[in-house]
This record gives sequence, C-alpha cells and structure tokens, in this order.
Amino acid sequence: MVVVTTSQDKKEQIELGQKLATEIDCPFVLRKQQRLSQMMRDLSLQGIIVVETQQVTLQTREGPSFYFHPNMVKHRAHAFLKDQPDVMVKAMNLEPGLKVLDCTLGLGSDALITSLVVGKAGQVVGLEASTVIAVLVKNGLRNYPWESLPVVGKPLAEAANRIEVINQDHREVLKRLPANSFDIVYFDPMFQETIPSSKGIAILRHWGWNQTLDPSLLLEAARVARKRVVVKVKRGSQEFNRLGLRQVIEGGRRISYGILSVKEG
Ligand SMILES: C[S@@+](CC[C@H](N)C(=O)[O-])C[C@H]1O[C@@H](n2cnc3c(N)ncnc32)[C@H](O)[C@@H]1O
Repeated sequence: MVVVTTSQDKKEQIELGQKLATEIDCPFVLRKQQRLSQMMRDLSLQGIIVVETQQVTLQTREGPSFYFHPNMVKHRAHAFLKDQPDVMVKAMNLEPGLKVLDCTLGLGSDALITSLVVGKAGQVVGLEASTVIAVLVKNGLRNYPWESLPVVGKPLAEAANRIEVINQDHREVLKRLPANSFDIVYFDPMFQETIPSSKGIAILRHWGWNQTLDPSLLLEAARVARKRVVVKVKRGSQEFNRLGLRQVIEGGRRISYGILSVKEG
C-alpha cells in the first residue's frame, strides 16, 4: 500500500497524504503525473490510496475502489429524525447519554446512527482491526462535506465528529477494559455466507478482518457491558445458538440482532 495525490500534487493534498501514510505506516509517494495502474505494477501493490481534492479513494488492483460515503446512513438518519423506528436502535435499546463500544466499526454506518441517538451526553467508541479501513473511515467521518446533505447534514456532522476511532483488535481491547466500562457492547461481524451486497461491503470483505466470533469473547463483552451485548447476524443462521444468544430481534429480510442482557432490570 502507498498513499499518493492526484497528478497535480497540490500542497493540501500532499499534507493530508503524508498524514494518512503515517497513520497507515506506509510510504507516501509523489505522483509526478504517473498512471496509477503503472505504479501498481511497478511497485507490486494491491492498492493505492489517492488523495483527491474532494475525497480520499482506495484504488485496488482487482476489485472495487472505495471512498467514504454515508449512503445508507442518510436514509436512516432522516427516519430517526422523523421518529421512525430503527431495528438496531431498538436492539441496543439506545437512548441519549449511553456509552457504546462498537467492536466492528467497518464503514462507520452503525456507529454514526448510534452516535446520533446517544447524542452529546453519550459516547461512541469504534474499534476497527484493519488499519486501512480505520484510517479511511476516520478521515471520512471527520472530513466528509456533511453540510452538503439537506436536513441531516448538521446532526450527522456532529455525530461523526464525536465518534472515537481506535485501530485495534477488539479481542485485545475487551480483555484490558474494566468491568462495566460501557453500557452497550456491539458486534457486527462479517457474515460467513455471502449475501448480495453493496460496493462498501465488497471492500470490507477485501480489506477487513473476516473472522467468526468466539463465544468466550461474548463473555468478555458481557463483563465490559453494564446493560447488554448485541450481535448482528444473518437471519436464520446458526450463530444465535453457537453464541448462546437467546433474545432475537428481527431486522428485515436478511438480518437479526441477538441480545445478551447483562444487568438490566
Ligand atoms: C461487517 S463490518 C461492520 C460494518 C459496520 N457495522 C458498519 O456499519 O459499516 C465488520 C468489520 O469488523 C472488523 N473486524 C473484524 N474483526 C475485528 C476485530 N477482531 N477487531 C476489530 N475489528 C474487527 C472488520 O475489519 C470489518 O471492518
């Protein structure tokens, strides 16, 4: 992986490119009019991060490119502001002021909705093991032109800014956290069986960590959670039984949420 700018090599792009390269721990290379495909071949790269004027794009040698875009979140945020139900919000029983640990940040969509609901009085920490995804999503959360979105732009900008992104393996973080340090601990692991999915999910499959949750990890999560542990799984999958989740909330045709209530009344 390397970070480059567009062929103009503008000052602001160079500065952002150098910052992202430091965070990813990969080289920053001056583009000097070179073609990306040529650079990928010459440097034997699987991917290149290109700092463009409006966005940062991950170009891959094979497969889709990726840039941060709050696609689905826009609709969910509109619905939330109109008091329409969101199944994830219901599964986590979210309310203002709660402290939530999102153990699988991914593209940050669930974390954004969570941050919108828990508000300024609450807190959302997102853990992401893949450095490339963590860095690109954090940059997107902070620098996306939210003001371009009518109605939901301002609340989403504030919600995005409040999310703390940590590039670490949740198994390590959970072990170190004190008991009861978050209200909710949330997991949205990569589904093992493929379902038709978006470009964003394709990029997660390529660059993200893809591992099944271990039941012992849920016990660790239950130690850290004051109220509940919530796991998103494919509807009808055997994951509920394997993970010992009893309470299930159906979320449309494809997904369900399993809940491990910890110390709620
Ligand atoms: C299905 S995606 C989550 C999507 C996310 N809920 C969203 O709204 O965009 C799962 C993410 O969890 C990350 N992941 C997998 N194992 C992890 C681990 N042990 N620690 C932290 N992140 C992990 C993957 O890299 C991937 O980005």
